[in-house]
Amino acid sequence: MKTIVIYNSQTGFTERYAKWIAEAAGADCMALSEAKKRDLSTYEAIVFGGWACAGGINKLGWFKGNLDRWVGRKLIVFCVGASPMDSPDIAPALRRAFADSEWAKVKAFYCPGGLNYEKMSLSSRLMMKMFRKTLEAKKDKTAADREMIRMISASYDISDRKYIRPILECLRNYTAHRLNLQRNPTADRQLSTFPETPL
Ligand SMILES: Cc1cc2nc3c(=O)[nH]c(=O)nc-3n(C[C@H](O)[C@H](O)[C@H](O)COP(=O)(O)O)c2cc1C
Repeated sequence: MKTIVIYNSQTGFTERYAKWIAEAAGADCMALSEAKKRDLSTYEAIVFGGWACAGGINKLGWFKGNLDRWVGRKLIVFCVGASPMDSPDIAPALRRAFADSEWAKVKAFYCPGGLNYEKMSLSSRLMMKMFRKTLEAKKDKTAADREMIRMISASYDISDRKYIRPILECLRNYTAHRLNLQRNPTADRQLSTFPETPL
């Protein structure tokens, strides 16, 4: 299955995950700026990775703007953020990222990255500083607030190759489904009926 992994990364975590996925899946891999210049019509699967930004996914608008053009392809989004995998904020944030009609076309995953203040733009550093100051100014800080203040006070790296497993499994299920369709052409052709682990 011809697959491309496209990423938008500011400090390198999303790029790292994109390269891990592409290497494991035997896929092409490129930055969004490069992918925008390419003809993507030959790819059967398109994987897009963007970094988490204020509860959203950076540059997701580009991906969503192409959904109608990519009907019939396997479409996967992964979001890389500073939150650990067990953060309660992840599932609601991912759910909000797509409308119900879009969920029928896309699978989405989260991969923990970290923070790298050395590689961050000045505006991003300022936003992180403002976020930290807002948390510090809170009167009745929860344990989660204190933990967040501790975590974001310096750079850290919680990325791990193991987090790409569900994404690879999702791509593999697609391949298996296609093989099944070749053997049994009357089988359901709805891509959205794959037996996959939901978010
Ligand atoms: C302005 C700003 C907002 C952010 N918002 C979130 C967020 O809502 N959730 C989260 O988990 N991480 C958030 N982060 C952290 C980044 O998503 C995280 O550092 C990610 O690993 C960056 O990926 P990259 O190295 O590919 O740029 C934010 C970072 C910045 C600079």
